[in-house]
Amino acid sequence: MSQNREQWGSKLGFILAASGSAVGIGNIWKYPSMAGQNGGGAFTLVYLACIFVVGLSIVIAEFVIGRKTQLSPVGAFEKLAPGTNWKWVGYLGVSSAFVILSFYGVVGGWILKYIIDSFSGGFDALAGNPEVAGTMFNGFITSAWNPVIYQVLFMMLCIGVIINGVKGGIEKWSRIMMPMIIVLLGVLAIRGMTLPGGIEGLSFLFNPRFEDLTASAIVLALGHSFFTVSLGMGTMITYGSYIDKKQNLLNSALWVIFLDTAIAMLAGVAIFTTVFALGANPAEGPGLIFIVLPTVFAQMAGGAIWSTMFFILLFMAALTSAISILEVVTAYFIDQKGWSRKKATIQFGAVITVVGAFCSFSLGGGINITEFLGMPFMDFMDYLSSKYMLPIGGMLTAIFVLKKWGISNYLAELKNGMGEKNFPPQLVKAILTIAAAIVAFILFNEVYAEIFGKALIG
Ligand code: PFF
Repeated sequence: MSQNREQWGSKLGFILAASGSAVGIGNIWKYPSMAGQNGGGAFTLVYLACIFVVGLSIVIAEFVIGRKTQLSPVGAFEKLAPGTNWKWVGYLGVSSAFVILSFYGVVGGWILKYIIDSFSGGFDALAGNPEVAGTMFNGFITSAWNPVIYQVLFMMLCIGVIINGVKGGIEKWSRIMMPMIIVLLGVLAIRGMTLPGGIEGLSFLFNPRFEDLTASAIVLALGHSFFTVSLGMGTMITYGSYIDKKQNLLNSALWVIFLDTAIAMLAGVAIFTTVFALGANPAEGPGLIFIVLPTVFAQMAGGAIWSTMFFILLFMAALTSAISILEVVTAYFIDQKGWSRKKATIQFGAVITVVGAFCSFSLGGGINITEFLGMPFMDFMDYLSSKYMLPIGGMLTAIFVLKKWGISNYLAELKNGMGEKNFPPQLVKAILTIAAAIVAFILFNEVYAEIFGKALIG
């Protein structure tokens, strides 16, 4: 099977595809709104620490497992630990892909709608008026069919990319879209910094306000570090399975983490400088992108152009992530069930689109399937994946390397493509143990809070 397995065309193509997976709605929407509400620079410091301690070690582990086995998660765990229950970590990954893409596709649809509205000047009337913008946004997402039409469109684009394969689809589009994201974001950041008063946004984002950093914000930063680097569901195992033995995996992982972090920071700069310059509320939380920004752009000269640019870059970030999620499911059906790429992509893309439509309906679209643990189905899917499925998957991956596969086998594969470099096994073991222990503690804290109504910390 591995002989005719698809491969990335080049190292750069792989790095752009993997960082395309990492850079998404999480960087441009979630990170700035979380940082804005939770102590600015203080949150950013914790977020960086989490990414470099927990995130980096698990990205490398996923790449190594993927390249060693040349298989997507279920097959990979089965190959390295045949006849054991470890393959369930792979199944957990495939299930997480279903869960995440169902709601991710809905947000992808909202972004498409916002591109069209920005471009057609539909936001002009919102200048400086967040109430009207809020009513408009809520009216849209709570209507029955309108958001679903855009979600279906977004999912069709995602299917269209994946169907063309690893090199001709994922890599090709990542090579086009990733540089465009960086350029557009760079232009918006410069524009924001040169607006009168914009620089104040920088101190809001980067000055640590430790008094606003609660314990639960620390937990939030940790959970987000998994989501933002696409960890814990085998995406990086799947992408790693298309790499050849000549590549230096440590170097590639550092690039992915660097690009993911740099783009999140750049998004923060672009957004907060603009928001500050125009006197809007920076601690708006999730409404920052879909409610505050349209009102802010509309006040600027050439506002329609700036806001179209912003939503196009957000769309590209969302699409390069969504394709990586669908690829996990597609690769499972190709590797384990022998399906053709076309059949797997279309059938499961369609199933996920239908589940996603129910996410959208749950926001108020008339079909009452709303309450799951006291939250709409859409929020439940986000909660389930970000708070539990991804951290559990990531933690089990680290434990798998430590306890089942073994550090020496792991290092033997990691060393391919790295020349004579040697890693002290004890250090690698310690880092993976710390990563797994931190995640285990957060999970325990979450479950404790669910059961006893109060977290140990947070
Ligand atoms: N990393 C993506 C983001 O920050 O938006 C989301 C994501 C993509 C999560 C792929 C998980 C995944 F496997």
